[in-house]
Amino acid sequence: MSTLTWRHKDLLDTENLSPAEILHLLDAAAQFEEINTRPVKKVPTLRGKGVILFFAEASTRTKTSFDVAAKRLSADSFSLAKSGSSLSKGESLKDTALTLEAMAPDIIVIRHSSSGAAAFLAERLACSVVNAGDGWHAHPTQALLDAYTLRKHWQGKMQGKSVTILGDITHSRVVRSNIHLLTRLGVKVRLFGPRTLLPRGVHNWPAEVAGSLEDAVKNADAVMCLRLQLERQQAGLLPDLSEYASRFCLDQKHLELAAPGAPVLHPGPINRGLEISSALADAPQSRILYQVAAGVAVRMAVLFTLGTRNEAP
Ligand code: CP
Repeated sequence: MSTLTWRHKDLLDTENLSPAEILHLLDAAAQFEEINTRPVKKVPTLRGKGVILFFAEASTRTKTSFDVAAKRLSADSFSLAKSGSSLSKGESLKDTALTLEAMAPDIIVIRHSSSGAAAFLAERLACSVVNAGDGWHAHPTQALLDAYTLRKHWQGKMQGKSVTILGDITHSRVVRSNIHLLTRLGVKVRLFGPRTLLPRGVHNWPAEVAGSLEDAVKNADAVMCLRLQLERQQAGLLPDLSEYASRFCLDQKHLELAAPGAPVLHPGPINRGLEISSALADAPQSRILYQVAAGVAVRMAVLFTLGTRNEAP
């Protein structure tokens, strides 16, 4: 692992990470990935540390992998969901956070439907805060695990590679965190989606916007599909779903336009047959389940880095 001194109390987005800091986390994750292949998948690294998983929005991958990551590092992890918490009785986010901090955790991992919720907590709490997804704003550990997956596929070479990201760009915190992270590592990003699902100002992002699915995928070194976020759609943004699938669903024939061996990523959960064909989701080029495995190693790296940042090397 590199000897870089970690300067951040929190992980709120990829926007304020330097290339050296990103590579430090990815290198740490590579070491933790090995632990996940052992018969006994546990090390004492964070023994005595407490991690609270505060998920006020649904999650399978992120919540479970943070929990697995904490336990594999021997930290004590505690989960709180919106339903079953006093948020459902009207307690404010601030009071919930102060209540959790009174139990002396070292790290709080939060997912919330409001953009800025993680930063709101980070400003008020002394413990580290990790953003596990806030509204449309950011999902830094997803971007880190995506970069980890690509770096492994490309055998360490990121500079000059290209990634095409397809689908519901407007509502995606994943695309925003990925653009910051990938461009810092020298990766070119190309976007394509329905005009109504491209955010205003997208042409000012450090990414190319393609005019068709075929142009978007052509010669790409990797293709990432985004989930159509049906729960965040406003009326009128979309034609009907079968029309969406016929124009925007990635399948094997589109992937043949990409660079040879280009992998397909998806942050999940997937809508089979809507943004990605079911056959492609299960095809050898799909890295979707590897992304989930990488998520454990990356989240171990994040918890380790934040949980030990005040300790002498
Ligand atoms: N990719 C992702 O954030 O998945 P979950 O919503 O299942 O955590």
